[in-house]
Amino acid sequence: MIKLREEESEFMSKLLIEGGHTLSGVINVSGAKNSIVAIIPASILAEQEAVIENVPNISDTNDLISILNLLGVDSTFTDNTLKINNSNLKNILIPAELSTKLRASYYFMGALLAKYRHAELYYPGGCNIGARPIDIHLKSFEKMGVQVTFLDDKYILDAKELNGADIDLRFPSVGATINIMLAACKASGITRISNAAMEPEIVNVADFLNSMGAKITGAGTKEIVITGVNKFHNGNIKIIPDRIEAGTYLLAGALIGKDLVINNLNPNHLEALISKLEASGVKMQIDSDKITVSSSKNLIPINVKTLVYPGFVTDLGQPMQVFLARCNGVSLFEETIYENRMQHIKYLQKMGAKIKMDNNNIALIKGPCHLHGTSVTATDLRAGATLVLAALIAKGITKIDGVKHILRGYDSLPIKLKKVGAKIKIVE
Ligand code: EPU
Repeated sequence: MIKLREEESEFMSKLLIEGGHTLSGVINVSGAKNSIVAIIPASILAEQEAVIENVPNISDTNDLISILNLLGVDSTFTDNTLKINNSNLKNILIPAELSTKLRASYYFMGALLAKYRHAELYYPGGCNIGARPIDIHLKSFEKMGVQVTFLDDKYILDAKELNGADIDLRFPSVGATINIMLAACKASGITRISNAAMEPEIVNVADFLNSMGAKITGAGTKEIVITGVNKFHNGNIKIIPDRIEAGTYLLAGALIGKDLVINNLNPNHLEALISKLEASGVKMQIDSDKITVSSSKNLIPINVKTLVYPGFVTDLGQPMQVFLARCNGVSLFEETIYENRMQHIKYLQKMGAKIKMDNNNIALIKGPCHLHGTSVTATDLRAGATLVLAALIAKGITKIDGVKHILRGYDSLPIKLKKVGAKIKIVE
């Protein structure tokens, strides 16, 4: 039996998980990573102050706060509430060591353009799950009158005038939709985004911008209309529950739970996952803000294809594969959003999963597999979550390296799992 340590260290580098222990009790879901990472850059648009509640304590939050501090913003982050005061905000180059730490640094492009008509930063970082170009963001800015220069690995965005425009996205990119909303809310005139992304986090960001005086309608649909305004006032928002974190724990419950309650979630945001689990035979009690789930035997194999919202979200595609490995027969999984989101497969295979790859984005998964513990590495955030799920059901002890990836997006994961009965230990 592993002896557990009480506290979690931000410097932890490995997780040890002893599998096979039933999970029971309540897991409280934190605020959404993909909301807070846009809302922090958006907060520089407040006239002076912004108050953001239900903020997840993840490293992406802390990295963005570091960028705010560099820009002269005063902030306090206590009890999941982030208060910012940007009276001393200044527009300076965001250096490579900060912008490359995470993908969402690109939201400072839209926010700084709105505020100053000028932004300078290095290429954004983030998980290595594909090429992840930002051409849609940049082309959209250009349509609004922004001159884009790429010099010495650095983007210089400059707009003598920032004008509203009709922008038809060739793909409903989450990041581009939010970046356009940010720039457009203080541009001259009206911006219409067609084929916009419809993810719930976009509604959360629009609600925050509207709380500061922006005029955005249609967020959450394919057509968003933004009427530019000159002046913003102070703002506030509560971050919505993280549907990916909720979905990850829902899968944990479906795999090895007994009346495991996933609390503080919005089931409407999880419809695609819930319907797949139901089709496979998982029994759930679904309430307005929580789901109670237990593991079942004789799970029916199912096919899963990732799509933009409201389809099956790519961020739960990797964790879902552990569930498919437990179904009775062959399931087909297809990833359609990112071209390199299957790096975890070799580690699932090492743990005993029977998975055959086709074309780097299709996996044939034959279950029910009996996994065993071994040493594995989290190559990206959701790969990490996937290996945690696999470790929870594996026989013996699994050692997971690369835990910093998991900490980018899961608030207090070891503590939350330990509380419901997992045997999980952090080692430096
Ligand atoms: N794309 C382009 N050009 C662009 C923008 C996107 O070709 O200018 C392509 C991407 O390469 C990708 C697809 O479009 O193949 C989707 O990209 P999108 O812009 O929608 O994603 P993102 O904004 O980069 C956000 C989340 C991701 C999540 C996706 C999809 C943040 C910081 N990241 O990424 O989150 O997978 O939306 O929902 O909000 C994660 O949480 O694990 C994660 C990767």
